[in-house]
Amino acid sequence: MKALVLSGGSGTRLRPLSHTMPKQLVPIANKPVLAYGLEAIRDAGITEVGLVVGERIEDIREMVGDGSRYGLEVTYIPQEAPLGLAHAVVIARDFLGDDDFLMYLGDNVVLDGIDELVRHFRENPSDAQVTVHPADPREGGLAVLDADGRVTAVEEKPKNPTSNLALMGIYVFTPSIHEAVRSIPPSARGELEITDAIGWLIDKGYDVQGRLYQGFWRDAGLIDSLLECNQAVLDLVGPRIAGKVDDDTEVIGRVVIEAGATVTRSRLVGPLVIGPEAIVDGSYLGPYTSVGEQCVIEDATVEYSIVMDRAVIRDVRGIHGSLIGRATTVRTAGPAKGGHRLVLGDNCQISLV
Ligand code: G1P
Repeated sequence: MKALVLSGGSGTRLRPLSHTMPKQLVPIANKPVLAYGLEAIRDAGITEVGLVVGERIEDIREMVGDGSRYGLEVTYIPQEAPLGLAHAVVIARDFLGDDDFLMYLGDNVVLDGIDELVRHFRENPSDAQVTVHPADPREGGLAVLDADGRVTAVEEKPKNPTSNLALMGIYVFTPSIHEAVRSIPPSARGELEITDAIGWLIDKGYDVQGRLYQGFWRDAGLIDSLLECNQAVLDLVGPRIAGKVDDDTEVIGRVVIEAGATVTRSRLVGPLVIGPEAIVDGSYLGPYTSVGEQCVIEDATVEYSIVMDRAVIRDVRGIHGSLIGRATTVRTAGPAKGGHRLVLGDNCQISLV
């Protein structure tokens, strides 16, 4: 079985982060979103991966390379525009050949493996197998299953959901999907939707099975989901202290401090991770915080947040539930100036109290 991993998408719901980085590279506990998917695929015993990429191909290539660092053989499949998930299957036809394949949306994060899904499909072959999770389906797709686990209906972005089963971005397809993706028209948003292709299979009488995923799953294309992923991953890591911590620093709970990082006069309450060569001084870092490499945090308090590489936070208290992009500076203007000085790009979200 091959895997087709989709990393095109423009990430409109993650602006402004997605203006400068593909959403699949946003770090969760200092590891890119896409790495979680690639590792899950490898752990399920699949090595041949077609990676569908859009205009951010070079960023993704820098991270993934030829796939060998993840134990995979990766073939890049450029998609000229985000024309839909089913369009990705159309352009991957040569790579896929007549093999069954696992399709994995690169912004999906699962923390409990997908080997059971693959094994179940191998032991119970069907024409297609979708994965469902009990969750509000309005942000994505919905599936309706009968008592035997057969999918009787699917719907994309339902306004009035008729089930509480969300479609995860993890599917197993047989070559029957190729006729489906060539037969459907574009949706209202101008994309070829994989949900419509699955609906086509159901309408034509193909056997589409739904498999319930019991573990942790989020679509990390949303800001709140990214923070929830960060929390869930940090619950699994550490403790490990490779960097330097001075005697005036208190470390409580599971804290990871990577090599080359320096922490002085601070209070660290895990679970949290501080990346290589970061500097933390006179600060409080609270639970579920990830600090990227070469960040500088001085006289600040931060909790439940993702602070990306080379960001600087100075003299700011009470940062919570925040995503701070690479090489961003957050600081107070100083008492003499008064007011807030904000230099922000497009689509930023600032909440002041
Ligand atoms: C896509 C699919 C949707 C699925 C979701 C899972 O939606 O179209 O059916 O539920 O991924 O991540 P998107 O996130 O691209 O809007």
